[in-house]
Amino acid sequence: MSLLEKIQKKESVVGVVGLGYVGLPLLLEFIENGFYCIGFDVDPKKIEKIQKKQTYIRHISESRISEAVDSGNLTVSKDFSSLKSADCIIVAVPTPLDKHQQPDLSYIIKTSETIAKYLKKGQLVVLESSTWPGTTMEIMKPILEESGLFYAKDFYLAFSPEREDPNNAKYSTRTIPKVIGANDEASRDCAKALYDAVIVQTVPVSSTQAAEATKLLENIFRSVNIALVNEMKMILDRMGIDVWEVIEAASTKPFGFMPFYPGPGLGGHCIPIDPFYLTWKAREYDIATRFIELAGEINTSMPYYVAGKVVEALNNHQKSIKSAKVLILGAAYKKDIDDMRESPTLKLIEILESKGADVDYNDPLIPSMPKVRKYQYDMQSIDLTPENLKKYDVVLISTDHSTYDYQLICEHSVLVVDTRNATKNIKKYRDKIVKA
Ligand SMILES: NC(=O)c1ccc[n+]([C@@H]2O[C@H](COP(=O)([O-])OP(=O)(O)OC[C@H]3O[C@@H](n4cnc5c(N)ncnc54)[C@H](O)[C@@H]3O)[C@@H](O)[C@H]2O)c1
Repeated sequence: MSLLEKIQKKESVVGVVGLGYVGLPLLLEFIENGFYCIGFDVDPKKIEKIQKKQTYIRHISESRISEAVDSGNLTVSKDFSSLKSADCIIVAVPTPLDKHQQPDLSYIIKTSETIAKYLKKGQLVVLESSTWPGTTMEIMKPILEESGLFYAKDFYLAFSPEREDPNNAKYSTRTIPKVIGANDEASRDCAKALYDAVIVQTVPVSSTQAAEATKLLENIFRSVNIALVNEMKMILDRMGIDVWEVIEAASTKPFGFMPFYPGPGLGGHCIPIDPFYLTWKAREYDIATRFIELAGEINTSMPYYVAGKVVEALNNHQKSIKSAKVLILGAAYKKDIDDMRESPTLKLIEILESKGADVDYNDPLIPSMPKVRKYQYDMQSIDLTPENLKKYDVVLISTDHSTYDYQLICEHSVLVVDTRNATKNIKKYRDKIVKA
């Protein structure tokens, strides 16, 4: 039986390498649709948790994991020799920036080397990690071919970008259309059939490069528009105009406008990082990515702008930032999730502490600060009680979690700096709220 037929009959075994925010929900989707799956990760804690039917991602329920394990259709392992048993191998490993803000493809390279060791004839490999156009063919293909097998002759290769939006109640892995690119028809057909089995709409494109570029365009579009609205915030604030009111009014236009919202800076694994993958690759073609760099500059300056607003607000309350007690609300990079990768709160702590402030944080979803790429804070979340709120010179809202009681926060805080318009409905304490 050909691989295509095997996939169409759901008899192909699906291997997912990297069981993080992208890989785990994808793995579960395949199992829930009747595929036998093998999940691989180098992190033994993740493997152990799945085996114990426990979750490690807040918005992925324990019941989903436990049903997957009980179905008998799931094996998880850090033993990559089982890659031999998979017909289709999906790769969802990290693609961060290195300390010089350049693409770090080490995870893709390492994974490709591992797959090459066990690659067998007739397998399909799909890369899902966000990366610069050309990665699949220029980096992954040659490594896979070190196995002695050849692309398009012996194995299939495709790229399909991930559009996972953690905790989005409206869209899930299954309902978000999926772009699939391959440089030969057979690879594209196999990859399309694979995702067609679990996702409502697939969008084939003519090459892996086009699919890679699609993902970058989507994230650059967001980064540039967020930068634009952040710039509008600073201009309008100087003019005494509320940017939030302006965005709300502009959003009533039924065409040609899409609202983006200002904030304390960019966060997450995608928007602050992915655009610079294109910048790096564009240099090879002697072309500057001016929009990307300008957006990066504005978005990167946002935590400094917010810190400036905190200093100004304290000053207006006869208080210096030096030795001021600051409580930051929200450590996650966006509301209602427990992911704090690249969160602007991390930078805010650094800036405020460098000015002599004594900083604490609260996040109901992050009880203590984990070690992340650039930062390692030894901090525990402070309980959000009226007594505690009163102890701080200023409370800075960095992430607008839905569970926060903003009435209580404003009532008991001396001063509130709000970067998310979270206090828009609080009328009574307006004189102690500063928008930033
Ligand atoms: N998180 C999102 O919302 C999102 C959305 C769209 C695209 N992406 C992209 O998807 C990719 C994965 O992101 P993520 O958020 O799932 O990352 P993640 O850090 O949550 O998960 C990656 C997993 O890969 C594992 N891993 C690392 N090296 C490995 C190796 N050599 N072999 C096997 N496993 C390995 C890690 O232990 C981790 O569990 C990135 O390229 C990211 O840009 C993420």
